[in-house]
Amino acid sequence: MKVAVVMGGASPEHHVSLASGKGIADAVASLGHTAVPLVIDQQGDWANGLHEAIDLLRAVDVVLIGLHGEYGEDGRLQGFLDQLKVPYVGSGVTASAVGLDKHLTKAVLRAHGIPVTPGVRLFGAETSDTEAAVQKLKEADVEFPVFVKPANGGSSFGVGRATDLASLADAVAAAAELDPQVLVEKEMVGREIDLAVLQFPDGRVEVGPPLEIHSDPAQPFFNATAKYDASSATEFVVPAPLTPELAELLNRTALEVFEVLGCKGLARVDFFVPADGKPVVNEINTLPGFTPASQFPRMWAAAGYTYADVVDVLIKTAVA
Ligand code: DAL
Ligand code: MG
Repeated sequence: MKVAVVMGGASPEHHVSLASGKGIADAVASLGHTAVPLVIDQQGDWANGLHEAIDLLRAVDVVLIGLHGEYGEDGRLQGFLDQLKVPYVGSGVTASAVGLDKHLTKAVLRAHGIPVTPGVRLFGAETSDTEAAVQKLKEADVEFPVFVKPANGGSSFGVGRATDLASLADAVAAAAELDPQVLVEKEMVGREIDLAVLQFPDGRVEVGPPLEIHSDPAQPFFNATAKYDASSATEFVVPAPLTPELAELLNRTALEVFEVLGCKGLARVDFFVPADGKPVVNEINTLPGFTPASQFPRMWAAAGYTYADVVDVLIKTAVA
């Protein structure tokens, strides 16, 4: 098969995507397919121009989207590929758009009775009005410390922790630089557990062994440095040691999240498990990090699937 691998893109996660895309393209080639790498630059322009990209995309059997964040993970590219009538790996327009928007994700999950991190959304002018933010937090019963993040984004870019009014104002301003919608959420002290959801060509959807994040203690949280810096002391434990009851609850909830958002192909569902043992969904990633060191392939490796096996499943499911 001819498999296009789209990578890069006009989001702050451009470089993460290049690493995901390279890993995916290598795996595609190792499976005996022809990999057609397509790079989008940080301005959102396709290498060699849009017309050549359209011609190349029309000539492939399937597209593997190695993009993360805005313009790639949020439905925009998916809609473009729908127009071109080219099959692609992963969720369609709506699930991608809702899945990247943490505010909408939480609204949909709450409506289905799925617990999410408590917090508020600030929009537009609210992001420069700390008093309004504090009032909203009071009404929602959320106390410091809080986490502040762009509603749309990934890899923790623009995310900050605030412990008081001054640090809240700074963190909101930093997040608002990336997105006019900013989330301010209660700090969830406890364990951080990821689940990998994968759809097989027969339509069956399965969850891999859970992964626990032991973030680099030198960092204030699982931020971009803890995630990607070569010297980071972050460790992933797979399978995470969980009671059978908690494992079953997380598994079931991850599948429910995938289903209620209408996802396809793959997703990583990230949870916090606070001291009371009641998990909340932090977020979903419909195109999770996919470097060979990323959580998603690691979880499937623990279930006996090599990185290339996972890519093979993704391709076969997309064209099934
Ligand atoms: N957004 C990053 C790539 C992740 O989900 O791993
Ligand atoms: Mg994310």
